[in-house]
This record gives sequence, structure tokens and C-alpha cells, in this order.
Amino acid sequence: MTQTLSSAALEAQALSRPWFYPFKLPSGQTTPSYDGGWLDGIHHTRSTMLDAVLDATFPQNREDATAIDLACHQGWFSCQLAQRGFARVVGVDARSEHVADAGLIRNTLGLDRIELIHSDVHSLDTAALGTFDVCLILGLIYHLENPVGALRVARALTRKLCVIETQVVPNMSGMVDYGSYKFVRPLKGSFGIIDEIDDTHGPEASTTGICLVPSVEALVWILRKLGFARVEVLPPPADAYEQLLHGKRVMVAAWVD
Ligand SMILES: C[S@@+](CC[C@H](N)C(=O)[O-])C[C@H]1O[C@@H](n2cnc3c(N)ncnc32)[C@H](O)[C@@H]1O
Repeated sequence: MTQTLSSAALEAQALSRPWFYPFKLPSGQTTPSYDGGWLDGIHHTRSTMLDAVLDATFPQNREDATAIDLACHQGWFSCQLAQRGFARVVGVDARSEHVADAGLIRNTLGLDRIELIHSDVHSLDTAALGTFDVCLILGLIYHLENPVGALRVARALTRKLCVIETQVVPNMSGMVDYGSYKFVRPLKGSFGIIDEIDDTHGPEASTTGICLVPSVEALVWILRKLGFARVEVLPPPADAYEQLLHGKRVMVAAWVD
């Protein structure tokens, strides 16, 4: 009886305000999401794409598998990993309000296999955390001034599969006289600079305001140099959210071996 009342109270709390994500709650109701659900499409497309790569990589029982979700926000993907059978899921976010929200959703959904850490991705003690079968780094690196450092953290935490999702910029290619015409080097990719200096109060934004957004070519090249054996840009479904459909954002899978 106490359990039922407690679940109902948690749901009532969750339903009382808008969320970044449309969480399906135990009663069947869905949390109201920003701007009447305007962004729901991007979340559903990314969930579909993530499911496809998880099904291909972990077709069997996931009861021994672990996962970490870097920049977990309110826990949309952490909850899905737990609901899809991962034994242990760790969610990490730099914003304490998101960690609190993810805790509320976890408790509402009864997903006690999710642990939450309040931390900047760059400050994580990767040696202490160990490795995880799956590492998610979705919607984060284009908000960072050190995206390569964050990808190094992701690589250190990955035992099998890392999934990266990011906004991308057009690529530049060509040759560069690198100090002298005698030392010519090919460009391996590009980064674009985006200004979020006035947006750092925003719940989804950068915490520092200087953002380096990679081209797809840069991202794939960096992931290979960080030691991933196989890197694939995942195909979006036919009904994907427009940014993923048109290659303005990509989801990339990187396998350790
Ligand atoms: C656009 S949201 C993406 C959230 C979620 N991963 C997704 O894809 O839906 C960006 C998230 O990154 C978090 N974030 C920003 N900078 C961070 C940092 N340096 N370390 C950890 N999290 C950070 C924000 O608090 C926010 O939750």
C-alpha cells in the first residue's frame, strides 16, 4: 500500500512540470515535454538508432553488461539502457539539477540499477570508475571547448562499444604548408567554433560557452586515433528527425575490437 502511494506521489511530481524528454511513466502517462513536444522527434530517432546498434552488438542476454551515459541530462538514455536489460548503468552530468531530475525519474520508473554521478566529464576519475561494456556520449561534444579530451575519457571508459552523437559542421580538406612549403600536411578534418557564451545558463548548453564542433571526418579520424578498432557512422531511419536525416548531426559507433 505504501509502495503504491509512493509511486503515485512520484508520478504526480514528475507530471507536474515540463521535461526535456517525454518519459513514459508506469501508469501509462507521459511527462509533458518542452514546447508541446517539439523536440520529441530527435529523442525518438536517437533511441531507435541506439537500439539498432545495441541489438547488433549485444544480441544475447545483457544481464552481465554495464553502461555509462556521459551527460545523461534527466536520464532518458540511462533509463532506456536499464529497461533494455543492462545490469548496471551509471549516469553522469555536470548540472546538479539534471542529476536530481534523473534521480526522480529513476525512482518513478523503479530502475534502481541506475547510479548517478554529478561531475564534469573532464573531471571523472576513469581509473576508479573502470570500464563499461557501453559508453554513451550523446549530445555533448559540440558543447565543449575540449571535445577531444572528452572523447579520451569516453575511450578510457569503454570496454566494447562507444556511441557518440553530435552536431557536425562542414568539412575542410586540402594541404597545409606546415611551417614551410617543405613540410606539407593533409587536413584530417575540421572544427567549427560556436558561441554559447551568453547561453551557459541554459539547461542543455555548454558550461563554459566556447564550443568546438567537429566535422564527421574529424570525428571519425579522432576516434580511430584514440584507439577504436572500428568506427561507423550509423544510418538514420527513413523517418528520422531532420537533422539526423540530412547529416547535420550524426550518431557514430566505435568498437574497441
Ligand atoms: C544537449 S544536452 C544532451 C543530453 C543527453 N545526453 C542527450 O543526448 O539527450 C547536453 C548535456 O550535457 C551536459 N553537460 C554540458 N557540459 C558538460 C560537461 N562538461 N560535463 C558533463 N556534462 C555536461 C548538460 O548539463 C546537458 O545535460
